[in-house]
This record gives sequence, structure tokens and C-alpha cells, in this order.
Amino acid sequence: MITAAGVLAPAKVNLFLHVVGRRADGYHLLDSLVVFADIGDRVEASLSDIPSLVVGGPEANAVADLGDDNLVLRAARLYIDAASGAGAAALSLDKQLPTASGIGGGSSDAAATLRGLLALWGRRLPHARLSALAASLGSDVPFFLGPGSALATGRGEIVTPLPPARHSFQVVLVVPEVRVSTAWTYAHYVIPKSRLTGWKRVVNLLQLRSEVIAGTKFKLKFFNDLEGVVLSRVPAVREALHALRVSGAAQAQMSGSGAALFALPAPSLPPKDLASRMRCRFSQVYVARSVRAGSRPCR
Ligand code: C5P
Repeated sequence: MITAAGVLAPAKVNLFLHVVGRRADGYHLLDSLVVFADIGDRVEASLSDIPSLVVGGPEANAVADLGDDNLVLRAARLYIDAASGAGAAALSLDKQLPTASGIGGGSSDAAATLRGLLALWGRRLPHARLSALAASLGSDVPFFLGPGSALATGRGEIVTPLPPARHSFQVVLVVPEVRVSTAWTYAHYVIPKSRLTGWKRVVNLLQLRSEVIAGTKFKLKFFNDLEGVVLSRVPAVREALHALRVSGAAQAQMSGSGAALFALPAPSLPPKDLASRMRCRFSQVYVARSVRAGSRPCR
């Protein structure tokens, strides 16, 4: 048995996010195309008689007040209750990326914790059981258990992995200095009446899926139904999107429920140059590479 396991908790970007309905319990039904980025937090788990969590890294303060509600601790408690014979673990979270940004954050940390504890204790839970545990922690958590690029449907918890892409691509991520809660963004979203646009979206989604797998240059526009909610109410996000567009982004869009934005630079502009331009105005700017499914990033 190993005594310690370290797992990268990668960021994600939603290249496509279409809200297709609303459940009776208020959750929104989605068709979303999501990819891992090769940057993220890191969770380490080691055998210990006493459960503990130490949080470090540049964004540690953002989760300092969560206490027992920290998703890493919640995931660990769930796993230990579910996997007979698993004992306590000493956990550490290196919080590199901003929280409440629509790029994964706590959901990815929770999935990394589940994976770390699985590696540590070697107790195999059936995949369906693990996915159910993950879904009880948050709609996005099952996606982060997977190998990367996937279609996420249902409330986001039904994950259909894509075949590995032939090539990865680089994005520039900008996180404006404002936090947007997932619940807040969804609460303000109004589903349009016309179903006609729905069919167009399905076709766009399938085309974009093919482009991701083929790894060719994107001809299609990314899409996010939730973007309008945030752009119309949060000036800082609007300004960051405008800044990306005038600084040379060929495509720029909000990820998930916001507030992070990602962009593909124009072909003649290296991603690091677009990032440098953005760093003049924004402190949280990252260059990341998409992860071809099947090759989880590890650091
Ligand atoms: O599942 P998660 O805990 O991330 O969701 C946070 C909140 O975001 C939910 O309580 C719900 O209000 C909203 N949400 C939604 N539809 C989704 C995912 C989240 O309405 N598909």
C-alpha cells in the first residue's frame, strides 16, 4: 500500500454551454462541452491516524473561512464513510486558482480528493458509486473524476467522455477581480421560449465536438448561454471581455457560470503575448493548454 498520493485538480473551460431546460427542483439541464486545462490546484493525501487539512498557495485565503465546509473535507468524509476499511488521511490543498470563477475550483479539488483517497487506500468503489458521491458534492464534480474532454448533460453530472483529441490548443484565461456564485448566475438566467434556436445549438455543439477531437483550428464560435446574465450585471466581466477582444483575441468567452473568461488569440498572436497585454490591466491571467482526453495532466 502506498502512503501518500498527489493529484492535480485541473481547471476546466466550457467551450459550449447551452441551457436546455429547468428541473422541478430548480437545477438547470445542460448540454455542455468541457475540456481540462493543464493548470490547477493540487491535493495531497497521506496516511494518518488523525484527519487534517492544511491549505496553502496564493488563493488559500479565499477558502480560509470555509472550515468543515471545504469541499476537500466534505469529499474525504463521504469517501471514508462509503469505502469500508478506509481510515483517516492527512490532506493538503495547494490553492493556485481563484475560487467562484467557473473554471472548476472547489469541484475539481473535491474530485482530486476522491481520486487521491482511492489511490491511497486502494479501495475500489464501483465507478457508478464514486460518480454518485461526486454528484452529491456538486454538479461538476463527476466531470473532474473523468479523463478530460467530455459532453456534460443533465445538471452537468452526466459525463460522456470524448475520444482523445489529436492536438491540444492553448487558451488565455483571465479572471476579473470579482466573484460570481454559481447559484446567483443560474438564478438570473431566463430560458428563452423559442425551441428553434435549441436545434441550431445541438448542431453547433456536435460540430464543435468534432473540431475538438480533430484538433484542427476552430471554425465555430464558442457559446455560453449564461454569459449574458453576467455581462449585463457585472461591469468588471464586461470590461475584461472587451479588453480581450481589443487586445487580439479571435474568440473570447465566459467559462461556466463566470466570472473567468478564456480566449483564443488571433493566429498571428502567440498566446503569451495576448496574456502579457492582459496583465497590464488584470492580475489573474494564465496561459493554459487544453488536455487531450486520456492524458490527465499531472504535476
Ligand atoms: O451543483 P452545484 O452545487 O455546483 O450548484 C450550485 C447551485 O447552482 C445550485 O444550487 C443551483 O442553484 C445552481 N445550478 C443550477 N443548475 C445546474 C448547476 C447548478 O441551477 N446545472
